[in-house]
Amino acid sequence: MGQMGKMPCSLSSVLERVIMVEQILSEFRLKKEQLKEVMKRMMREMDRGLRVETHQEASVKMLPTYVCSTPEGSEVGDFLALDLGGTNFRVMLVKVGEDEERGWKVETKHQMYSISEDAMTGTAEMLFDYIAECISDFLNRQHIKHKKLPLGFTFSFPVRHENIDKGILLNWTKGFKASGAEGNNVVGLLRDAIKRRGDFEMDVVAMVNDTVATMISCYYEDRSCEVGMIVGTGCNACYMEEMRTVELVEGEEGRMCVNTEWGAFGANGELEEFRLEYDRVVDETSLNPGQQLYEKLISGKYMGELVRLVLLKLVNEELLFNGEASDLLKTRGSFETRYVSQIEGDSGDRKQIYNILSTLGVLPSELDCDIVRLACESVSTRAAHMCGAGLAGVINRMRERRSPAVLKITVGIDGSVYKLHPCFQDRFHKVVRELTPHCDITFIQSEEGSGRGAALISAVACKMAACMLTP
Ligand code: GLC
Repeated sequence: MGQMGKMPCSLSSVLERVIMVEQILSEFRLKKEQLKEVMKRMMREMDRGLRVETHQEASVKMLPTYVCSTPEGSEVGDFLALDLGGTNFRVMLVKVGEDEERGWKVETKHQMYSISEDAMTGTAEMLFDYIAECISDFLNRQHIKHKKLPLGFTFSFPVRHENIDKGILLNWTKGFKASGAEGNNVVGLLRDAIKRRGDFEMDVVAMVNDTVATMISCYYEDRSCEVGMIVGTGCNACYMEEMRTVELVEGEEGRMCVNTEWGAFGANGELEEFRLEYDRVVDETSLNPGQQLYEKLISGKYMGELVRLVLLKLVNEELLFNGEASDLLKTRGSFETRYVSQIEGDSGDRKQIYNILSTLGVLPSELDCDIVRLACESVSTRAAHMCGAGLAGVINRMRERRSPAVLKITVGIDGSVYKLHPCFQDRFHKVVRELTPHCDITFIQSEEGSGRGAALISAVACKMAACMLTP
């Protein structure tokens, strides 16, 4: 660390610099009143999304999932689970068995496959052929190619379901753009790709969003879990809504899980006064400008890039790195979101921060390191608070509908930002609790939720199909 360049400046100019940095970063700070406003608007859009007459124009689509509260029991046996929604694709073998104490037991084996940029942005046929190829490889490795297993597909994009095993992709998010998929039945695309290969058979019984899979997997640990949330590459939540208010689906009894797709919040201008110059650049240079504006304030796909833009602003104002940025730092996408977690996780000796900045081609002073950390804190704290306002909206809505004196609820959560950032959770929990009086909230992290959830719901779907077949 001895080689760290010291800024040749006096105490007063240091102070002046810090004050100017603070001023720039203060734009990220949201007051409680502002968060309440975000929450109120979110609740309004949720309401509009549920109603038939406003659904079309609502930014928060509130998509029915056909995952219902009426438990049918479940089958036991082997299930295959697929998980597509980020840069990795996972195939999992899940054994659902009976357990004397808890009634069930789940064991998993899985394999990860990376999805190349080409697969993400080529044609749907190419993407699904690759997926089928991965499944084939997995079946070979597990020596189960001959078995026709029931398959649960966690597909983490906005889908308009017609049933639990049928739904069309509304639009891609998170950097996916494979052509010929939007507007088509996703399960159909998968079945066709499996048929094209012809070397194995599968019985696709359920397709769920990752929020739903997370909720289901946590529900098996804790029967109060009626909300699922992801803060990873993307950000989204689902929850159990009263059937009578899910106007898009017939029926009045019980509850159905609704995939809010809240990442799209903001498309009707609801976030305009909160969006900063950096947010606008991130949006304009993304594959889906004007879409997923709320998600772009929060999720891991964008957080690192937001920080990078803030750092460039500070450099331009001559407040950082002697007013000079490296070529790498000037390159879009070079500041990875995991750096934000690592920088805020620095123990105080600045070693971690120094190392990261060196890999980005800059040699920072101690003050530079501290300023970079402040920039990270500003971006990630705003993300946690914005996200907290959204979840508070969901929970307050549930309490309004159910009207108990105190709503006792468990939220199942997954995603790299939530799990790996050292302070996101605490900041997020604090805001949610502040905005939800008369609610008793438990947060639980899901382990392998996407795969386990998909398998568990498949087990339920199989049971239901069996019920329908046996009079
Ligand atoms: C994006 C997707 C959504 C998913 C979320 C988390 O917001 O649109 O379906 O749940 O990312 O992966």
